[in-house]
Amino acid sequence: MIKVIINGASGAMGKLLAQVIDRTDGMEVVAGAALNGEGGFYSRLEEYQGPADIVIDFSHHSDTVPMMDYCVSRGLPAVVCTTGQTDEEMEYIAKAAESIPVFKSANMSVGVALTAKIVREVAAKFGACDIEILEIHHNRKVDAPSGTAIMLADAVREARPELHYNTGRSGMAKREPDEIGISAVRMGNIVGTHEVMFGTNTQTITISHQAHDRALFADGAVAAARFLLGKPAGLYNMDDLLAD
Ligand SMILES: NC(=O)c1ccc[n+]([C@@H]2O[C@H](COP(=O)([O-])OP(=O)(O)OC[C@H]3O[C@@H](n4cnc5c(N)ncnc54)[C@H](O)[C@@H]3O)[C@@H](O)[C@H]2O)c1
Repeated sequence: MIKVIINGASGAMGKLLAQVIDRTDGMEVVAGAALNGEGGFYSRLEEYQGPADIVIDFSHHSDTVPMMDYCVSRGLPAVVCTTGQTDEEMEYIAKAAESIPVFKSANMSVGVALTAKIVREVAAKFGACDIEILEIHHNRKVDAPSGTAIMLADAVREARPELHYNTGRSGMAKREPDEIGISAVRMGNIVGTHEVMFGTNTQTITISHQAHDRALFADGAVAAARFLLGKPAGLYNMDDLLAD
C-alpha cells in the first residue's frame, strides 16, 4: 500500500485528492497538513514522523522551503502541484531534487500534457497555416488568457519559434501571418475548454481538450506519484511521465 501525506489537506484540491486516493487501489492517505492545523490536520509536516512513501503538495508556495526540507530529511519523494513559486523557491526545489525525486508541473492534467504534445507535433508538420487558440472558462476566473492557453501557445512556439502571441485582437488591424491568436470567453460554470485551431484556405485541424471536473488535477497527481516512486533523485515533469 502506497502511503501518501497530503500537504494542503484542508484545501479544495487537498480534499479532492483525498477522495481520489480513497477510490484508488493500493494507495492510502496516512496524514495531512494544513495552515494553522485547519480541518484537524497537522499544522506542520514535521509533526508527522509516522510511516509514509510520498508527499503530494497542493498548498501555498510560501510553504515550499519547509516542505522540501521535510521531504529531504525523511528521504521522501515529492509531487509538487502548488503553483506560484518565486525564482528562489524554484531553485530550492531544484536543489532538493539533487537528493530526492521531485515531480513539478504547473498543470497536473495528463490530458492537457497529451494535448500539448499533439499540438507541438501538428505545429511542426502542418506548415503554413493560421493558428488560433480559444479558451473558455467560468465567469469567476480573473486572469485571461488562461495559463493553459499560454502553455499550449508555448507548445506551438517550440515548433514555430518565429510566431508571436496576439491576445487582444480588436479594431481594424488584419491578422498577421506570424501570430498565434488567443481568445478568452468567460461564461457560466465551465471548468475549462481549450481549442487549438490550425487553418489553411482548404482545411482546418482542431485539437480540443475539455475539463469536466477539477479532480482531473488530483488524477494527475496520483499518476505522478505512481511514476515517481522508485525513481532516482531528480526533477521530473509531465513530459517524463508521458515518455515513461
Ligand atoms: N498544478 C496543478 O495542476 C494545480 C491544479 C489546481 C491547483 N493547483 C495549485 O494548488 C494550490 C492549492 O490550490 P487549492 O485550490 O486547493 O487552494 P486552497 O486555498 O483551497 O487550499 C490551500 C491549502 O494549503 C494550505 N495553506 C495555505 N497557506 C499555507 C501556508 N502558508 N503554509 C502551509 N499550508 C498552507 C491551506 O491550509 C489549504 O489546506 C495552489 O497553489 C493552486 O494554484 C495546481
